[in-house]
Amino acid sequence: MDFKTQRGIDISQAIFWLNANEIVGIPTETVYGLAGNGLNEQAITRIFQAKNRPFFDPLILHFPNIAAIESCVLEFPEDAKKLAEHFWPGPLTLVLPKSDSVPFLLTSGSDSVAVRIPNHPLSLQLLEALPYPLAAPSANPFTYVSPTSAQHVMDQLAGKIPYVLDGGPSSVGIESTIVSFENAIPRVLRLGGISLEALRDILPSIAVQIQHAPNTSMAPGQMAHHYAPRCALYPIDSDEFRKDRSPKNLLKFQNQDPIAPEDTLFDLSPDGNMSEAAAQLFTVLRKFDEMQLKRVYFDWLPDRDLGRAINDRLSRAQKKSTD
Ligand code: TXA
Ligand code: MG
Repeated sequence: MDFKTQRGIDISQAIFWLNANEIVGIPTETVYGLAGNGLNEQAITRIFQAKNRPFFDPLILHFPNIAAIESCVLEFPEDAKKLAEHFWPGPLTLVLPKSDSVPFLLTSGSDSVAVRIPNHPLSLQLLEALPYPLAAPSANPFTYVSPTSAQHVMDQLAGKIPYVLDGGPSSVGIESTIVSFENAIPRVLRLGGISLEALRDILPSIAVQIQHAPNTSMAPGQMAHHYAPRCALYPIDSDEFRKDRSPKNLLKFQNQDPIAPEDTLFDLSPDGNMSEAAAQLFTVLRKFDEMQLKRVYFDWLPDRDLGRAINDRLSRAQKKSTD
């Protein structure tokens, strides 16, 4: 159906459409989500269709509080509770054994479901007013850069959805960190807004199992080529950069060497602040496309804290010679 997409801060509008099994854009602290009734197959199907997302890539359920999660999971291991109590509401997603109330359509046939309590006042208010959790993937077409503002959602989904709840720019700017507790063993499946260091302060033994292979069944959204803008992105340790005699358009961080003309430099954080860099990342990648740049170089961030998650996004967004 074609909609004249509205954008605003009217929670009752969002509730109206969600109750009709339609889908709406919602703000979260990580990125904007494309939300629908997570227990309703019609709404779930609309999410997959609007995003052009294959049905083998499961969705995250969003809740207002831990008590609301209980009916959707079979167990909540002690270690998972520890993380939940420490980081929720916040940029952490837990993968737990699902109960019968969660449709297999949402989990792509998996016995586990991904759950999260987002930290955004508008969306928490919305979730509290609903009798069901919201399924919400990032509100971007499949494999494109995630949206961090209502305008980003409008740019790509206007006409396809009835409403975008506008909660301002996303403060974290990269997606949640995903920790799986399948077989009761905690493993990080996706690096994101909670750093590995912060997780290990709470669970020192947590393992990392990031999947980069395409079409993996573990975290299918973790495809090698993901989060990609249309411009070709090459790291400065690539042959493309080495062969370029007058390189321009460089994405950098802090005071890394200005190896391109000053007016073609994009600094994610002149002060070297990782949180600021994460909050800027997707906006800057989208800007490259708006500017119709064909080729952009980037330097890697230090491989610690949120730098790891940002490097992971850059690695997936880069142009590989096999592309
Ligand atoms: O920050 C976020 O997590 C944002 C906001 C909107 O909450 N959402 C988000 O959703 O990034 P999405 O769909 O773009 O990415 C969710 C990832 C996918 O890579 C998917 O494969 C993984 O979570 N996932 C979902 N359910 C899973 C499950 N049952 N087991 C393993 N991985 C799962
Ligand atoms: Mg996504």
